[in-house]
Amino acid sequence: MSQNNLFLTSDISDRAEYQRILEKTARAIADSMTSPAAYEGLTPDELKKVIRLQELLPEKGLGFDKVLEETAEKILPNFLRPSSTSYMAHLHSPALLESIAAELILSTFNQSMDSWDQSPVATEVEVEVVRELCKLYGYDPEKSDGVFTSGGSQSNLSGLLLARDWFCNSKLHYDVKKYGLPENFRKMRLYTSCISHFSMEKSAHMLGLGYESVVKVPVNEAQQMDARKLQELIERDLACGNLPFCVAATVGTTDYGSIDPLPELHEIAEKYGLWLHADAAYGSGVILSDRYASRVAGLHLCDSITVDFHKMFLLPISCSASLIKDKENFQTLTIHADYLNREEDEEDGYTNLVNKSMQTTRRFDALKVWMAFQTRGKEGWSKIITTCIENAAYLYEKLHNSKDFETVTKPEISSVVFRLKPISSSEESGDELNKRVRRTLLHRHGIVIGQTVFDGHVHLKFTLLNPLVTHEKLDELIELLLQLRTQSN
Ligand SMILES: Cc1ncc(COP(=O)(O)O)c(C=O)c1O
Repeated sequence: MSQNNLFLTSDISDRAEYQRILEKTARAIADSMTSPAAYEGLTPDELKKVIRLQELLPEKGLGFDKVLEETAEKILPNFLRPSSTSYMAHLHSPALLESIAAELILSTFNQSMDSWDQSPVATEVEVEVVRELCKLYGYDPEKSDGVFTSGGSQSNLSGLLLARDWFCNSKLHYDVKKYGLPENFRKMRLYTSCISHFSMEKSAHMLGLGYESVVKVPVNEAQQMDARKLQELIERDLACGNLPFCVAATVGTTDYGSIDPLPELHEIAEKYGLWLHADAAYGSGVILSDRYASRVAGLHLCDSITVDFHKMFLLPISCSASLIKDKENFQTLTIHADYLNREEDEEDGYTNLVNKSMQTTRRFDALKVWMAFQTRGKEGWSKIITTCIENAAYLYEKLHNSKDFETVTKPEISSVVFRLKPISSSEESGDELNKRVRRTLLHRHGIVIGQTVFDGHVHLKFTLLNPLVTHEKLDELIELLLQLRTQSN
């Protein structure tokens, strides 16, 4: 590649080279997808040997064609393939084809979403997408707002930051943005279930409140926050002079996909004057299923919602949004800089999205939602989400009714946590058996499933985000698990 072909410009030779390298790359990627397995099986040591470099920065560049050739040989075949129906380990999805096209567009044009002059049409698209998303989740589009973020962790941090500042401003009459934390900050309390995502504690730490501010509310058998216990804990804290400020519900817990009872939590939050945040990083996709949308009823009651598009919505990493019922709360994140987001811009109708974002330079991820939502429409999306939910229901029934497995809870979304029971004559413990089976699936069968702990014991997990998974595939996997149970290392 000559110096002339640095970028895609209006130059005819740059345009030709752009097309050539992308076509060649697309061909190499497509050619690498010859196996239905999720993974080729290499161990960490084997991978280290394969990818070891002579030097990352050679004296003279090797040229794109040579580098692509090496990448195609060493890296492409060893990628984890989330689009394989043998991949069901995490809340980590394959990427829809149209959203890969969107990634190409947004990387090529490399817009930065902080100020209008760095992303004119992209800013207007994000504003429009956010408006439609607010409507989808039941917010009043005139009063609500939102912003795209790097993922569920950042969306949660953003929601909880707004909750903290809203509480300090409106209840303590204290400007936390200006003065930092109030003197009695050690008394502030955030309530979330004992199985909520660890980004709750991380956020509390980053917000200066510390892990001790996070009160873990017990869950019921269905793995949902126990609303009665929540109320008891709030009362207990009030009685000893603590300052409850927020309830963070989980709409789709990481392991079980369980959904906290939003209407009941909303009543409690209203009663005690608390902010209600919904971590719907996982469960936000359920709203698109005609048949099961009612399972996430009550999201509109929450003051902030985390929506992750790189989980159930099958869009490439990263893609998430933080939606806020009352847009005035975004003031917390607004600070003006002469070089970037002048106050007069807003007055003249130029939107600078940095005013509501924790990030400054930011990707145009909203394009992926814009393209994928319109490409498939309500019907296409409902089918995708419904298939995943019904696959989990099918798998659960099979495992639950088998004497060879133990299950934890009936899935509300698309994850099933279970445990393979050891054969009575075996000396291998249940924990060892389940760990061994997972490793064997990964390295010998190219099948990647999840592992977690429930009630002190190792459990396995199928996270069924891929609508290409069939009941036959699930039956085969159950058979394979049973076969592996009887095989020794
Ligand atoms: C319930 C829940 N919330 C938040 C997150 C964090 O999302 P991200 O990985 O996009 O930061 C996860 C991740 O799995 C999750 O399961």
